[in-house]
Amino acid sequence: LPLTAEVRDEHLFVGGVDMVELAREQGTALYVMDERDMRTRMETYLEAFRSRYGNADVVYASKAFLNKEAARIVNEEGLCLDVSGGGELACALATGFPAERIFMHGNNKTPQELREAIQAGVGRIVIDSRIELRRISEIAGELGVEQPVYMRITPGVEADTHQYIRTGCEDSKFGFTMREDFAFKCVKDVLAAPNVRLAGLHCHIGSQIFALHSYPEAVEVMVDLMARIREAYGIELSELDMGGGLGVAYTADDKPASIDEFAETITAAVRTACAKHGMPEPRLLVEPGRSLVATAGVTLYTVGIIKTLPNIRKYVAVDGGMSDNIRTALYHADYEPVVANKAAQPRTEIVTIAGKHCESGDAVVIDMPMQRPDLGDVVAVFGTGAYNHTMSSNYNGQPRPAVVFVKDGEARVTTRRETYEDLYSRDI
Ligand code: LLP
Repeated sequence: LPLTAEVRDEHLFVGGVDMVELAREQGTALYVMDERDMRTRMETYLEAFRSRYGNADVVYASKAFLNKEAARIVNEEGLCLDVSGGGELACALATGFPAERIFMHGNNKTPQELREAIQAGVGRIVIDSRIELRRISEIAGELGVEQPVYMRITPGVEADTHQYIRTGCEDSKFGFTMREDFAFKCVKDVLAAPNVRLAGLHCHIGSQIFALHSYPEAVEVMVDLMARIREAYGIELSELDMGGGLGVAYTADDKPASIDEFAETITAAVRTACAKHGMPEPRLLVEPGRSLVATAGVTLYTVGIIKTLPNIRKYVAVDGGMSDNIRTALYHADYEPVVANKAAQPRTEIVTIAGKHCESGDAVVIDMPMQRPDLGDVVAVFGTGAYNHTMSSNYNGQPRPAVVFVKDGEARVTTRRETYEDLYSRDI
């Protein structure tokens, strides 16, 4: 649930705003973000790391959720920003986000995107391959700058999560593999490349991770590698970026670790590993996305059709679906729904909330308890702040929902709803 969710007179309120009224005013489907929830988590993250480990930064992975208002909030809260391509970079820069606090990622950034990033002066580019190293070196040379970079290492750690979002294991399209000592061998190339400065190492082992034990394992691999680099080249790499991945609770059954436990696990592991090698402690970075914004998000829908198949299932069809939330169809993700205009009532029905798209797999919620729905009810689905808006589509010509931020009883549209004209505006 978002931090500020409460029930007043049967209605669900978030950020002091009546979700039923908001749905009527703005139309549905509608993305709502609880600003206080986002900001509180950002502050908690910074405090959790900096109170344990002074030289730490939190880099928000904007692929989880990004619009201009989000970029402004991240900036105000003093976090850095991870962009996974030229589009996210452009959005951040358009809000005046300081380029030196932007980190660029991606396993196949195009030469154009690299040029945009280097020209803008992004703080770090995370190099994913040797081919990319050459490109960065060349472009930085043409622009007459020295680009600080990290090498993305695949530490060979299997995180305990869905295979589509596991990224640290050996068979991965991402990063420099540790197999046959490949990553270590490539360090020499990075050090030799002109116009590039190796500032540190990066890894990201996966997403929606509940069991934290993979992090110390990955830290050990990374710090071992830093120690070997020091030994071989006499270079102290002063930064270590351990990626994101902390899981969140989508349902009451999910028991993720807290931000504090995450910070404790990682900082302790870094300390231990550095002590083992007699190494100075590097600047430590983490890159959470989901755990900063997922719980802040609520999607509002209107119930259009109810279809009961006795002994099989009750389908509640809403005015959105896989176009605004692909996660259920893609990962069988679970979400909890509530009828926003009956929020005080018990959840007595098991429902499947289907979308309006032309696919059987188009569902937002599968077999979850909810209040008894009626036509015209407003359904709120919780936990949709991460990887919903950013993974949305126009399937079936569906205009994308507006994004409304709520705080202290005020609602403000931060991204307007798409129009039919928007849909075809690029057509020639
Ligand atoms: N850093 C890098 C390099 C990443 O690739 C990611 C996520 C993150 C940080 C942030 O991870 P988080 O803290 O959000 O777990 N679409 C999937 C999630 C894909 C995650 C991709 N990378 C989903 O909806 O579950």
